[in-house]
Amino acid sequence: MCGIVGMLAKRQVAGILVDGLRRLEYRGYDSAGIATLVDSKIDTRRAVGKLQALADKLAEEPLSGTVGIGHTRWATHGRPSVDNAHPHFSEYVAVVHNGIVENYRELRKELEEKGHIFKSETDTESIAHLITDYLRQGLSPQKATAAALKRLEGAFALAIIFAGHDDLLIGARRGSPLAVGYGDGEMYLGSDALALAPLTNRISYLEEGDWVELSPAGVVIHDETDAIVSRKVHETNLSGAAIGKGEYRHFMLKEIFEQPAVIGDTMAALTSTDNHLSMPPVPFDWKAVPRLTIVACGTASYAGLVAKYWFEQLAGLGVDVDIASEFRYRGSPMAQGGAMVVISQSGETADTLAALTYAKEHGQKVLAVVNVAHSTIARQSDCVVQTLCGPEISVASTKAFTTQLTVLFCLALQAGLARGVIDEARVSTLLQALREVPAKITDVLREDHKLQELAQHMADAKDVLYLGRGTLFPLALEGALKLKEISYIHAEGYPAGELKHGPIALIDESMPVVVLAPHDNLFEKTSSNIQEVVARGGKVILFTDKKGLANMGTKPYWVTTLPDVDPAVAPILYAVPVQLLAYYTALSKGTDVDQPRNLAKSVTVE
Ligand code: M6R
Repeated sequence: MCGIVGMLAKRQVAGILVDGLRRLEYRGYDSAGIATLVDSKIDTRRAVGKLQALADKLAEEPLSGTVGIGHTRWATHGRPSVDNAHPHFSEYVAVVHNGIVENYRELRKELEEKGHIFKSETDTESIAHLITDYLRQGLSPQKATAAALKRLEGAFALAIIFAGHDDLLIGARRGSPLAVGYGDGEMYLGSDALALAPLTNRISYLEEGDWVELSPAGVVIHDETDAIVSRKVHETNLSGAAIGKGEYRHFMLKEIFEQPAVIGDTMAALTSTDNHLSMPPVPFDWKAVPRLTIVACGTASYAGLVAKYWFEQLAGLGVDVDIASEFRYRGSPMAQGGAMVVISQSGETADTLAALTYAKEHGQKVLAVVNVAHSTIARQSDCVVQTLCGPEISVASTKAFTTQLTVLFCLALQAGLARGVIDEARVSTLLQALREVPAKITDVLREDHKLQELAQHMADAKDVLYLGRGTLFPLALEGALKLKEISYIHAEGYPAGELKHGPIALIDESMPVVVLAPHDNLFEKTSSNIQEVVARGGKVILFTDKKGLANMGTKPYWVTTLPDVDPAVAPILYAVPVQLLAYYTALSKGTDVDQPRNLAKSVTVE
C-alpha cells in the first residue's frame, strides 16, 4: 500500500528515486510523484497512472536536486488524480506518506481556519500543512516534525524534505514500515529493503514511533519520546538483479516457474537430505499446546487452512484458522501460554501484524512464517521460519504460497513427532514425498501449453466455481482468488460436499466448475459431486491423476492429468496448475497480470 523512498546525496537524485519506486510499484500504482529541492525550493513532478507516466513526465520536464522523496500510490483518501498524488507540499515542506491519518478531518479544519489552503482530498496533505504551521511558529524542521508527529493519529511511514535545507531528510514510522539505508556518502529511506537493494545492503529498520534525521553528518534516530536511540544495522542479501523478469513476460509467470527451485531451497533449510527434520526450535512445547491458532490474510490464510488439516491429521492438534482482520477485533479469549502461527509473505500486512500484537498481549507465543526476513512481523514474533522464495513481485501470490505450504508441512511433522502421533519412519516417508514435489511441478510446468489451451475455454465465463475436499478445499478457495484477482472473473471456492447445500443452484451450461480431485480417500465422494454437476449440464474441468481419470464414471468437459503424488502433499502440486489456469485466462483477457486493478501487493493499511 503505497511505496515511499527518500535520498540525500551529492549527486542528482530524481532518476534514482524513480528506480527505487520501480521496485516498490507492486505496493500501488494509481499515481506517482517525486519532490526535490531546486535552488533550495520545493519542486515536484506528479502523474496519474503507472510509474512510467511519471518517468515520461520527468523526461519532458527534468527535475534537478540532491535531496528528494518519491511515492507510488494506492489510493485511500481521494481518487487517483494529480492533485491527490504525493508528494503533498507547501512552500516550506514536502511529504510522502504510506498509511492513513485517522484524525485528518479535524486537523484540516483547524489548519484551514488558520488560513492554510488545501489542494487535495487526501489525509496526507494535513501533515504537510501541520509541519508548515509549526515551521511558521519558528520551530526547526526537526522540532516541527516532532511536534506534528505527536498530533497524528493512525498509521504512517513518512519521508519529508524542507525548503532551504538541502542537507536534511526526515523519516518517521508508526504502523507502516520504513527502512534507513546507509550508502557511501549518501543515505536513503525506503518502504522496504528491496527499494534500496541496488544502492545499499546496509539497512536499519525504524521501530514503532521512531523518527530519523538524515544529514551529511550521519543518521540520528529518535524514539517516540524524541530521545536519541540506536537501531541495529542489518546486512541484507538482496540484490537489484533479483527482481528482473528475466525471459518471462510477467513476474507472475516467472514466479510460478521458480517454484521447483524455491520449494527445494525452503525444504533444504528445514530438513536433511536423508529425510530428517532440522527445524529451528519453536517457542512453545508442541506436547503442551492444547490448540493452535493460525492467523493470516488472503492466500496466506489459505495456506493456513491447508495446514489445519495437516496439524490435525499428522499431529492430533486442533487448529483454529482465522482471517486476521476478523480476529483482531473479535476479542477472542486466549489461554495464557497458548501458541499462534502467523503467515505472511511481506511480513508487513497490517491486519496480520495487529493480530500478532493482540496475541502477544494475551500471553501467546508467536511463530511467524514469513518471506521477508527483517519485516515487522518477523521482528515482532518469538520465532521465525522463513520461506526462501526470494522477492515475490507479482501482486498475485504464487511461490510464496507453495513455500508457505512447505514450511507448514514440516512444522506439522515436527509437531506430530513431538506429540508422538507419528514416528521417524512416517516422517521420513512424508519428507520423501515432499522431496519429490519439485520434480513433479516441473512436469506440470513442461505441459503448461495445455493449461493455456484450457484458459481459452474459461476466458468468456462470467462466473466459475472451484470445488475440492480435504486439503484440496483450501486450494479451491485459492484457485478462485487467483482467478478473481487477475482475470476479474467472478469465482467462488467451495468444499465439494457443500455443493448440494446451495451452490448447485448456480449450475448451468455456461458455468465452468473446476474440480480438484486427486485419487485419494475422498475421491469417490468428489466423483459423486462431479456426476451431480454433469447431470445438470455443468461444464466440469477436472484436475486429477491417472487413477482418478480411470475411476471417473462420467466424462468431464475437460481433464488435466497431473503426476501421481502422495495425497499428503497433493495441495502443493495442485496449486501450480490452478495458478497457471488463472494466469493464462488473464492473459487471454488482456488484463494487467502483474498489477491488477485496485490491488496492491502489500496491504499495510486496514
Ligand atoms: O504479504 P501477505 O502474505 O501477508 O499478504 C496477504 C494477502 O494480502 C495476499 O496473500 C493476497 O491475498 C494476494 N494478493 C493473493 O494473491
